[in-house]
Amino acid sequence: MVKPNENYGKLKESYLFAGIAKKTKQYLEEHPDKHLYRMGIGDVSLPLCQAVIDALHEGVKDQAVKESFHGYMPECGEMFLREAICRHYATRGVTLEDDEVFVSSGAKDDLADILDMFDVSNKILVTEPAYPAYVDANIMDGREILHLNSGIDDGFLPVPSEDTKGDIIYICSPNNPTGATYDREKLKVWVDFANKNESIIFFDAAYEAFIEEEGIPHSIYEIEGAETCAVEICSLSKTAGFTGTRLGYTIVPKKLNRGGVNLNKMWVRNRTTKTNGVSYILQKGAAAVFTPEGQKQIYENIAVYKNNAKVLMKAFDELDIWYCGGKNAPYIWIKCPNNMGSWEFFDYLLNEIQVVGTPGEGFGACGEGYFRFSTFGSPEDTVEAAKRMVELLR
Ligand code: MLT
Repeated sequence: MVKPNENYGKLKESYLFAGIAKKTKQYLEEHPDKHLYRMGIGDVSLPLCQAVIDALHEGVKDQAVKESFHGYMPECGEMFLREAICRHYATRGVTLEDDEVFVSSGAKDDLADILDMFDVSNKILVTEPAYPAYVDANIMDGREILHLNSGIDDGFLPVPSEDTKGDIIYICSPNNPTGATYDREKLKVWVDFANKNESIIFFDAAYEAFIEEEGIPHSIYEIEGAETCAVEICSLSKTAGFTGTRLGYTIVPKKLNRGGVNLNKMWVRNRTTKTNGVSYILQKGAAAVFTPEGQKQIYENIAVYKNNAKVLMKAFDELDIWYCGGKNAPYIWIKCPNNMGSWEFFDYLLNEIQVVGTPGEGFGACGEGYFRFSTFGSPEDTVEAAKRMVELLR
């Protein structure tokens, strides 16, 4: 008789964003005349840039002709894209070899799939508040999870202490959900910790393109020693609007060994067994992101989201509400006014002014009393939502 994975019984009933979607859908069913100002899930609202669209069309044309048609793609990614990603890292002073870059269908997929390489006895350390997929994927596998909480006092940027334990460490910077961003010094503390303890860092760099302050690392490999302790996972979802198109990449350095095993080789073995790669057409589109034209165009879109952030930050300044993020990240993390709970504030905003955000509690217990706004909405909706919040909360 089939025995299901009992670990699923330890999960919350639904994934955070699925739960929020259900709540908002119900609200709209009950109030069909209302428009919602959606600043919940970090989903982009602008279309793909022209350079990507042109490259996708080219890919389609190639697939229509015998001479340029592609069948199975290399499981770990086509060389033209792996090389383009290496050149992009080189602009940040990071030297990678093309076979250290693995093309995937997105960061969320790889964040969970890569756990395959690690025994279930490894302890997981999650700096919290955190993207819930880190936690849920490990609950599904049955790993023990240790939570390293952060808060206003450390600027939501925790660093390990003498007593910190953990074999696999999740770090996201710029952070989802708080928007807080590690500087070199603090990231170096994590790298040294991981090397000393022979832990592994999973560094989620999905929001790096939003960093505007000079000197803030975009990649963990900007920190000395990271190539012997870190896997970096990145995605074009937020960088180039690929949430519905799907493409990500994972860096597994060849210098990364644990327990006498080379993790790069192990990941090649995993990928060649478990995937047939990403479609040729999508890889063509993705490569266009890294061309000078593509870079210019994606940053024009990012500028729109950054302007949304400014609109929201101005509203919170006016309301004297504590927040972080927004500057180097597409998320703003606020302290709920009047000591409201985060789900209480969610219902209040939804019912009173039809603004949808994400309750901080959904990112871990220490997020209770906080609330996340995504800046990926339309500028019109963001301006209106900010106005409604100022009127409601003044
Ligand atoms: C978020 O809102 O946290 C993200 O959009 C979710 C994701 O990237 O899967």
